[in-house]
Amino acid sequence: MENIKNILFINACARPESRTLLLAEKVLERLSGEVTELKLFEEEIAPLDYDVLEKRTGLIASGEYQDPLFRYARQFAEADEIVIAAPYWDLSFPSILKVYLEQICITGITFQYTPEGIPEGLCRARHIIYVTTAGGPVYQNMGFDYVKALSDAFFGIHEQAAFTAQNLDVQGADEKAILRKTVEEIRNYSF
Ligand SMILES: Cc1cc2nc3c(=O)[nH]c(=O)nc-3n(C[C@H](O)[C@H](O)[C@H](O)COP(=O)(O)O)c2cc1C
Repeated sequence: MENIKNILFINACARPESRTLLLAEKVLERLSGEVTELKLFEEEIAPLDYDVLEKRTGLIASGEYQDPLFRYARQFAEADEIVIAAPYWDLSFPSILKVYLEQICITGITFQYTPEGIPEGLCRARHIIYVTTAGGPVYQNMGFDYVKALSDAFFGIHEQAAFTAQNLDVQGADEKAILRKTVEEIRNYSF
């Protein structure tokens, strides 16, 4: 019997009527498994400060990886599929996603260093799916590029896919048609 896949859905959408969220739901419909949703704006996460940094360095040094501080990193490393929904804000993504990414970059859980100092991934997922929507044109998807670089270099997740709906807030834009086109791309994608 095949094991049920464990899908981690990282939701960095701030607006209840989020179009990014709507598209991410279409992606989730295409995946089979059990979805765990992390609504980042409702989680108690904060940027790393000196105290937390000191605590986490100590915990890593003593191998205390079960500490609650590492709950997000453990969850991320154990996921079979990862879906990130993040609107295009200021050429990348909402800062809450960066705060989350800081929480999950933990040596010994999501990656480790080789004796030569090269990071190598410890994550189970084979690919990451990134969903975004933008008000204007996306010349450079720096949010996705960053997640992709981190996945490749640190997490060892070498397949990444992005679904992007752009120009949604341009005057006269046919918002529904733009979203329909991306939904179609999601439907036709071979996951
Ligand atoms: C804080 C903020 C920053 C934004 N920055 C950009 C931007 O740099 N480029 C752009 O094209 N649209 C930008 N937008 C517009 C959003 O990308 C667009 O409305 C998007 O569809 C919002 O996603 P949502 O419907 O999931 O909330 C920004 C919107 C907000 C609220």
